[in-house]
Amino acid sequence: MSFAVAIDGPAAAGKGTIARVIADHFGLEYLDTGLLYRFVGRARLEGAQDLAEIARTIESGDLKHVDLRAPAVSQAASEVAKMPEVRSALMALQRRFAKIPKGAVLDGRDIGTVICPEADVKLYVFANREVRAKRRHLELTANGLDIPFEKVLSDLQVRDCLDMERSEAPLRPADDALKLDTSELTVDDANQRAIALVTAQLNKGGNLSH
Ligand code: DC
Repeated sequence: MSFAVAIDGPAAAGKGTIARVIADHFGLEYLDTGLLYRFVGRARLEGAQDLAEIARTIESGDLKHVDLRAPAVSQAASEVAKMPEVRSALMALQRRFAKIPKGAVLDGRDIGTVICPEADVKLYVFANREVRAKRRHLELTANGLDIPFEKVLSDLQVRDCLDMERSEAPLRPADDALKLDTSELTVDDANQRAIALVTAQLNKGGNLSH
C-alpha cells in the first residue's frame, strides 16, 4: 500500500535533512516542495511575467539549478508563495507525487494542512529562530558566501513572517501533526527522533512492516 509522510516547518529547522533521512530509511520517494517555489521565484527575479504558467510547466530537471538556494531566491520564493495562482498551479504536481505507489515524503509549509491532509504521518519540525539562523549562516559560509549573521537572522525573520502570516495556506502545524523541536538536538539526534516518530505512528496505523 502506498503511504505519504508530510513534513512541514519554518526555514532552516532541519526538515529537509529529516525528510531525506526518512525517505532513505523507509524506501520512499522524496520531494522538496520548497524547490518548486524557489524555481518560480527565480523566474520572477529574471523578469518572468506569467508565473502560474511557469509553475504549471515545471519539470524535475528544473529543480537541479545550482543557484536555487541563493538568499535572493529564498526571498523571492517566499514572495511568490503568497500568490494563490502560483500555489494552485503547483498543487496538482505535489498531490500526484504524494500518491506514488512506492510511497512518498514531501516537505514544505502546507503539506499536512493543504496538499496532503490525509498523509499517514505528519511531522512539524521547528527550532527557535536564533538556532535556525546560526545553522543557515554556517551552511551559507561553508558554501563560500560572505554574509553577516545579522543579515541571515533578519532574512529569516522576514521569511517567517511571510510564510506564517500570508492568507493563502499559511505555515502552521496540522492539528494531528507530531511536533519535533530540533533547537537542542544534534542533526543525528533529530534524524533518529524523526525515524522513531514515523515508525511509531505507522505501526499504530498498521501500515508498515519496517
Ligand atoms: O523550504 P524552502 O525554504 O526551500 O521554501 C522556500 C519558500 O517557498 C518558503 O519561504 C515558502 C515557500 N513554500 C511554501 O509556501 N509552501 C511549501 N510547501 C514549500 C515552500
